Amino acid sequence: MASTRLIRSLRRNYPHNLVPHFANPRRIFSPKSPFPATSSNLQTRSYAEIPQSPSPKTPQNPTLPNHIGKNDSSSSSSTEKTPFSSSLNDSEIAKFAAIAETWWDSEGPFKPLHLMNPTRISFIRSTLCRHFRKDPYCARPFEGLKIIDVGCGGGILSEPLARMGATVTGIDAVEKNIKIARLHSGLDPLTSSIEYCCTTAEQLVEEQRKFDAVIALEVIEHVADPSEFCKSLAALTVSHGATIISTINRSIRSYATAIVAAEYILNWLPKGTHEWSSFLTPEELVLILQRASISVQETAGFVYNPLTGRWGLSDDVSVNFIVFGTKNKQ
Ligand SMILES: C[S@@+](CC[C@H](N)C(=O)[O-])C[C@H]1O[C@@H](n2cnc3c(N)ncnc32)[C@H](O)[C@@H]1O
Repeated sequence: MASTRLIRSLRRNYPHNLVPHFANPRRIFSPKSPFPATSSNLQTRSYAEIPQSPSPKTPQNPTLPNHIGKNDSSSSSSTEKTPFSSSLNDSEIAKFAAIAETWWDSEGPFKPLHLMNPTRISFIRSTLCRHFRKDPYCARPFEGLKIIDVGCGGGILSEPLARMGATVTGIDAVEKNIKIARLHSGLDPLTSSIEYCCTTAEQLVEEQRKFDAVIALEVIEHVADPSEFCKSLAALTVSHGATIISTINRSIRSYATAIVAAEYILNWLPKGTHEWSSFLTPEELVLILQRASISVQETAGFVYNPLTGRWGLSDDVSVNFIVFGTKNKQ
């Protein structure tokens, strides 16, 4: 049977964690877990209604599941102890190095990111303009802002940010990604000023770099330790600056869509791109950021409409979601 073949294939690809977790969801969503699978206790901006000014609301005295907040030194490329330990997960880095040439192929493995780009840019434009009191309707609303795109890949977010007037730094742990990003941005005078570096957030913290806005889209699910990674993002953010993170929720729906459908049925992504157990729920991400001195102000979901082939902003955070936070004043 096809379903049996699929489960066998998943077991081969995720021998240690994914299939057993899915077969026994209580391992993740146990009654002891402070994070139920829903996100009802998280303040979101309603994209179906006129936007209100939401105040952040986070879980009271929760703790994080065991797999979050521990730096797995066995998967880190560096054993050196620094104040901000390495976010690198070697197997994740290898996956991205293997497909680096395909960044600008809009029909390739990064097709979902290309399709999602206008929607995530609209969230970034609206939240950053509100926070920094910029006019979202002008041609270059980010003029005067220093923005870093952490885990920039081939630069598909960095370039629009630069066109909107920001002074952009794009960093990625994969050298090939940075080469592709540099080549591509050099084709347009509006993007050729982007500073691309093959490095990590924690390395830039060591160099005491600071940015008005720190953005890491679809990266946190690929790092060795999400808590440490967020501490580095916070350290790169100026006081009262902005931090924006997007990722995939650890829900049954995300298993069905982001893994089974995207990797095994539609073949949008190479098999094994995502590990379901590495996903964070919105509540977990809010808590991790809160501990890193970032207060989440707004959360939104991205939903895909298979009829139009387009993504849109939504209140539904059950699969893809994005958060906007501000660094607490120091
Ligand atoms: C799914 S891609 C997202 C790319 C880009 N942010 C976007 O959304 O268009 C994840 C990227 O993060 C990079 N990456 C993974 N771990 C990283 C780390 N610890 N530090 C910097 N980059 C990392 C990968 O090389 C890859 O380019």
